[in-house]
Amino acid sequence: MSPRWDVLGLGAVAVDDLLYVDQHPLPNAKMLIRGQQRQGGGLAGTALVAAARLGAKAAYCGVLGDDELSRFTLQELEREGVDCTPTLHKPDARPVHSIVIVDLSTGSRSILYSSAGVTEPEPAKIRPELVASCRVLFVDHTVIGAGLRAIELAHAHGIPVVGDIESEADPRLPDLMQGIDHLILGIELAGRVTGASEPVAMVRALSGLDRACCVVTAGERGCWYSERGSQVCHVPAFSVQVVDTTGCGDVFHGAYAACIARAEGVDRAIQIATAAAGMKATQPGGRSGIPNLPAIQRFLHGEIGP
Ligand SMILES: Nc1ncnc2c1ncn2[C@@H]1O[C@H](COP(=O)(O)OP(=O)(O)OP(=O)(O)O)[C@@H](O)[C@H]1O
Ligand SMILES: [Mg+2]
Repeated sequence: MSPRWDVLGLGAVAVDDLLYVDQHPLPNAKMLIRGQQRQGGGLAGTALVAAARLGAKAAYCGVLGDDELSRFTLQELEREGVDCTPTLHKPDARPVHSIVIVDLSTGSRSILYSSAGVTEPEPAKIRPELVASCRVLFVDHTVIGAGLRAIELAHAHGIPVVGDIESEADPRLPDLMQGIDHLILGIELAGRVTGASEPVAMVRALSGLDRACCVVTAGERGCWYSERGSQVCHVPAFSVQVVDTTGCGDVFHGAYAACIARAEGVDRAIQIATAAAGMKATQPGGRSGIPNLPAIQRFLHGEIGP
């Protein structure tokens, strides 16, 4: 029987309130807001939306409650075709709430966030049949207990795990990272956990025969990766008209996971993920610019410009 979902995600979902300003504010500044909008966000949330736009059957397992932010989060995921039937309900649970300040001169963003009410699923609630129903499991660093349980179940079924880690604060983090088959990290965290200063050395320190792939992403510099500890390759980012880099990393993860679920090779998954993340950077917010697969294919064939 074929699995119910291509990508099952556990981790952060967020409501992003985006504020567009001429440049990042200095202390004591007064500054005009040029534009504002609300979009869904979060590492897992935006990764799953990206996977769904690429044609994957995606599902989210988290904990949400009764407030307006939870309702917005669920509506947005479902509107994108992300199946939320595995999501658990707890009346006072909340998504992350972020204020994202985007500098219109560069497209770079700063994120202020509240995690009040954010609730991790209890590990015991991660049922074997839930995890066994996907081709690829996605986890991020915000769900370590549930993530470790889900990884154990995934590996028992031979299901690959794609992971996004942005913080090393929790002492269980090395165990979580150990269990991630496709580990995709931003360069800042990769530098901190390896002590290396160059991306090639970071990838070398984090890859090996027992890891399907390690990728270190570095924004407009692109990414470096190694499959099963082999030679480290660099893939440059696309040169695009950047409007807003919010969510580029999350889109990279989701597009990559969708490719792995379709049994694409790592090289192709990185190429598609780099194109999806670059295209996203040309539109405001974490989600509005996520392309679908035909648009990515046209972009890669040079038929549509950035
Ligand atoms: N300015 C840009 N122009 C083109 N592509 C970009 C740009 N910024 C990011 N990307 C693409 O997105 C990928 C991931 O970006 P980045 O390394 O910034 O992720 P991140 O640090 O995890 O960010 P996020 O906060 O979105 O999770 C890059 O490897 C690149 O392919
Ligand atoms: Mg990231």
